[in-house]
Amino acid sequence: MASKVAAVLSCALLVVAAAGYYTPPGPAATCGLKVGYYHDRCPQAEAIVQRVVGDAVRRNPGVGAGLIRMLFHDCFVEGCDASVLLDPTPANPQPEKLGAPNNPSLRGFEVIDAAKTALELACPGVVSCADTIAFAARDASSFLGGVDFDMPAGRLDGRVSIASRTLDFLPAPTFNLSALVGSFAAKGLGVEDMVVLSGAHTVGRSHCSSFVPDRLAVPSDMSPSLAASLRGQCPASPSSGNDPTVAQDAVTPDALDSQYYRNVLAHRVLFTSDAALLTSPATARMVSDNANIPGWWEDRFKKAMVRMASVEVKTGNQGEVRRNCRAVN
Ligand code: HEM
Ligand SMILES: *[C@@H]1O[C@H](CO)[C@@H](O)[C@H](O)[C@H]1NC(C)=O
Repeated sequence: MASKVAAVLSCALLVVAAAGYYTPPGPAATCGLKVGYYHDRCPQAEAIVQRVVGDAVRRNPGVGAGLIRMLFHDCFVEGCDASVLLDPTPANPQPEKLGAPNNPSLRGFEVIDAAKTALELACPGVVSCADTIAFAARDASSFLGGVDFDMPAGRLDGRVSIASRTLDFLPAPTFNLSALVGSFAAKGLGVEDMVVLSGAHTVGRSHCSSFVPDRLAVPSDMSPSLAASLRGQCPASPSSGNDPTVAQDAVTPDALDSQYYRNVLAHRVLFTSDAALLTSPATARMVSDNANIPGWWEDRFKKAMVRMASVEVKTGNQGEVRRNCRAVN
């Protein structure tokens, strides 16, 4: 009985049990994934994704930010199984990509399509869409910041994708520290993972609607000069017809670097969830270490990305390798 239960438990629940709530996370728990998984199955696989992502990021660095965020949004909802890529169908008209956290802000879908097309030409039916997202997020990190790391692979693609679950599992920009810690803990990730992965807000953009009501329309701890600059870029009441975007990191908007943490310390960040990192001594200490010690954040970001990319992965008979990332086989 116990072993039967263990067999159906998702990998991330085992990680939670092993890691504990406030314990610093140990070595990456890769849940049956392997570095070099495609070396004997499709030797060109990682190089193909890297080429497609490199071309796309050179044309538009924002797409690289989108791909890093895509991994997060995929992994937190049904696990890292490419459920975020499924298009609506008559049988499933509201998949994840139409959920509020993804629509219309999530970007990079066409890069995954281009990579998958090239992968199917080289090795039909071999490379999963879930692994393609993980490789693409890894490669985007490299192209935007020279943050280079191995990404284990072997994930299968899922068949379930439900818009409302994005709101159940993805933290909102209005979350306070305990809510943020809770949503990462629910995925087997620790407090430091949350702090370190939030550093991805050193690239990319945000729609005004994601922070105006919470941070500009009411008093907040935001630096008055940043607030003034954002008021100049955003309408007082953003709506779907009038919702411009602004840079997350006004200092180095396209560089994946530790500038985010210096912005947090200077109260020059967009979201309540960013500012919340200063609201406990332990996380404030992590922020200042990431801000001030060269290489500290980069080191931890690489490991945290691999841990996030291992959340609730499907292997064995739990999924499939999709032919087209937008539809189940
Ligand atoms: C800690 C909780 C987090 C919250 C509340 C949060 C929330 C948000 C929000 C509201 C946006 C702006 C979306 C828009 O309006 O266009 C955003 C953008 C972004 N987020 Fe997060 N996020 C979190 C964690 C993460 C993590 C873990 C990653 C990846 C490791 C990530 C990567 C990004 C990136 C790269 C962007 C810019 C996307 C683009 O330019 O297309 N975020 N996030
Ligand atoms: C954080 O947010 C949760 C959920 O909204 C709320 O229940 C809790 O009281 C808040 N905690 C603090 C310390 O403000």
